[in-house]
Amino acid sequence: MKNIIVTGGAGFIGSNFVHHVFRERPDWTITVYDALTYAGNRKNIEGLDPERVKFIHANICDEAAIDAAVAECDAIVHFAAESHNDNSLHSPYPFIETNIIGTYRILEAVRKHGKRLHHVSTDEVYGDLELDDPAKFTPDTPYNPSSPYSSSKASSDLLVRAWVRSFGVQATISNCSNNYGPYQHVEKFIPRQITEVLLGRKPKLYGAGENVRDWIHTEDHSSGVLTILEKGSIGETYLIGADGEKNNKEVVELMLELMGKDAKDYDHVSDRPGHDMRYAIDATRLQNELGWRPKYTDFRAGLADTVAWYTDNRSWWEPLKAETEAKYKELGR
Ligand code: NAD
Ligand code: DAU
Repeated sequence: MKNIIVTGGAGFIGSNFVHHVFRERPDWTITVYDALTYAGNRKNIEGLDPERVKFIHANICDEAAIDAAVAECDAIVHFAAESHNDNSLHSPYPFIETNIIGTYRILEAVRKHGKRLHHVSTDEVYGDLELDDPAKFTPDTPYNPSSPYSSSKASSDLLVRAWVRSFGVQATISNCSNNYGPYQHVEKFIPRQITEVLLGRKPKLYGAGENVRDWIHTEDHSSGVLTILEKGSIGETYLIGADGEKNNKEVVELMLELMGKDAKDYDHVSDRPGHDMRYAIDATRLQNELGWRPKYTDFRAGLADTVAWYTDNRSWWEPLKAETEAKYKELGR
């Protein structure tokens, strides 16, 4: 597998995956295929050898463009998506188009050209868990998505499963928990709060701040996806997670402490409608069957590095901040 396409490779997780593969597989070439929506940024993949990293500026819904790109590759790793729950509650249509129609276009292209596909999805397809539920999500948990975002991702997963069974498409799926690390858009929880504090403002917790997310460093997500791409069984679903459950209050308080502020100096704002309470991943299949292990499990150290990255890269995030906060103002959050 020497020549891969990475859709959404100018976004947060996709660009971290491009850097990861660039380092870990020096004989591979990577074609980033990205529409550069508000969430995409070519700076995320700047400085990589142009002989090995190409860029196609196109939409995954563009049938001719995706067909032509897929014809030239050995495999495609599909990260491109509308990814933010709050946006999906405000304006659902782009989620239907990119996440469902876009995945359909990719499936038709890989079916036609007989290429390997890895589809990147989310733990949110399983709905949420109670705070005191001993269970975690497994690959057998029934789908029960809550938001327009998670239901569009669930739809895309079901399309992939159907194309494997009905047409013999060579695909795998991964469902990962909440990622953090460099290059994450300031609309998302951790970067929003870090940049608010860097601008002299207070973090904003939705509701009581008791919702739990299962945090994983984006480097560990990348190594999980690469492992599945190389060793995964066709038709299988693998869950990627690193036992990083924390509630939002704990995350904000640790972040404030790491930034030298009073750990209680945050505001509570109105809650997200339909807000999922808790996500938790059981990654046993990926660990036992493919031998994957997360490496970046020290959340305090990972969060400190992330704070340092946003502190050192103001010119990356400052242009995004005003528009993002204007959207939140409209939502009252
Ligand atoms: P992101 O919003 O940061 O990046 C999305 C990228 O896709 C951007 O570069 C954007 O320009 C591109 N894109 C969007 N629509 C496109 C289209 N129609 N055609 C081509 N490119 C398009 O997203 P992210 O947080 O990096 O998430 C990447 C993937 O990982 C998504 O599929 C998401 O569902 C999944 N995921 C995310 C998380 C998380 O914590 N962020 C966790 C698990 C899974
Ligand atoms: O679980 C995987 C999912 O994680 C991915 O599929 C999504 O693409 C990704 O965006 C993320 O979804 P969440 O909705 O969990 O992430 P978000 O960063 O938006 O919010 C994390 C938690 O923090 C959630 O409980 C809502 C809360 N929150 C968020 C923001 C932006 C706040 O309390 N305050 C905020 O300002």
